[in-house]
Amino acid sequence: MKSKKWMFVVVAGLCWITTGVCAADEPNKTEKLAMSYCGECHGLDGNSISPQFPKLAGQRSKFLEAQLKSMRDHDRSNADSQDYMWGAAHKLDDDSIKDLAKYYSRQKPSPGGTIEYPALAAKGKQLYEFKPANEEIGSCIGCHGDDAEGGGNEPRLAGQHRHYLVKQLNLVQDNKRSAPDKMLALVRKLSKEEIEALAEYLQSK
Ligand code: HEC
Ligand code: HEC
Repeated sequence: MKSKKWMFVVVAGLCWITTGVCAADEPNKTEKLAMSYCGECHGLDGNSISPQFPKLAGQRSKFLEAQLKSMRDHDRSNADSQDYMWGAAHKLDDDSIKDLAKYYSRQKPSPGGTIEYPALAAKGKQLYEFKPANEEIGSCIGCHGDDAEGGGNEPRLAGQHRHYLVKQLNLVQDNKRSAPDKMLALVRKLSKEEIEALAEYLQSK
């Protein structure tokens, strides 16, 4: 017993001297929350398997931060945000939101899904990449990036669940989800089939 205690003191002492090493082995507060709570829906590493829940891994930090605040403050108020996320974000302060956003943005996104309908995906790619001659008019690719990787406030769309992309674009069309004016103008014009096409292409990226 005595020698075990002694060993413990030595190990603890070493940990203290080389703090970084021991701290890295222990999941921090953010990781704990993500793994034990958010992960139930969004997947342990942020790559949710169920199409009902958006993937968060590799998502842009600024975008995640803005969305979490908007769900906590009840600005993002579509039915599923209310039912699932208002409660989940309720107790998060600004610092925890920042930490969670950074944490998920650093997780590795899983590879995109398989293409089920090649013709639809090809149409989606065309729509996504179309750049109008008039630069006043926006384009999906202009804001969401060549590989749909997002940037700054613009979310990553690559590899997101098809179902989730369709749902969000429908919400934008119905004025139930905020979007920049240029995106709104483009999305309003999309037919149901074009939305399916965009989602089929983007989920595969
Ligand atoms: C019970 C399931 C559930 C739990 C737990 C949960 N979420 Fe969610 N989350 C959802 C659903 C469903 C949505 C999609 C809402 C919608 O359709 O607009 C969502 C949306 C989000 C979004 C928006 C993503 C995007 O691309 O627009 C973020 C960010 C998010 N959740 C982060 C978190 C974090 C961080 C936690 C833990 C503090 C958490 N969620 C806990 C179900 C959950
Ligand atoms: C002017 C830049 C801009 C353009 C153009 C644009 N977007 Fe967006 N998009 C954004 C921003 C910013 C958001 C975040 C909006 C918010 O929730 O406040 C967003 C959100 C989204 C979302 C929701 C993602 C999520 O995880 O919740 C989808 C899907 C999307 N855009 C698809 C598209 C498609 C498809 C096009 C082309 C038809 C397009 N966007 C054009 C900037 C743009």
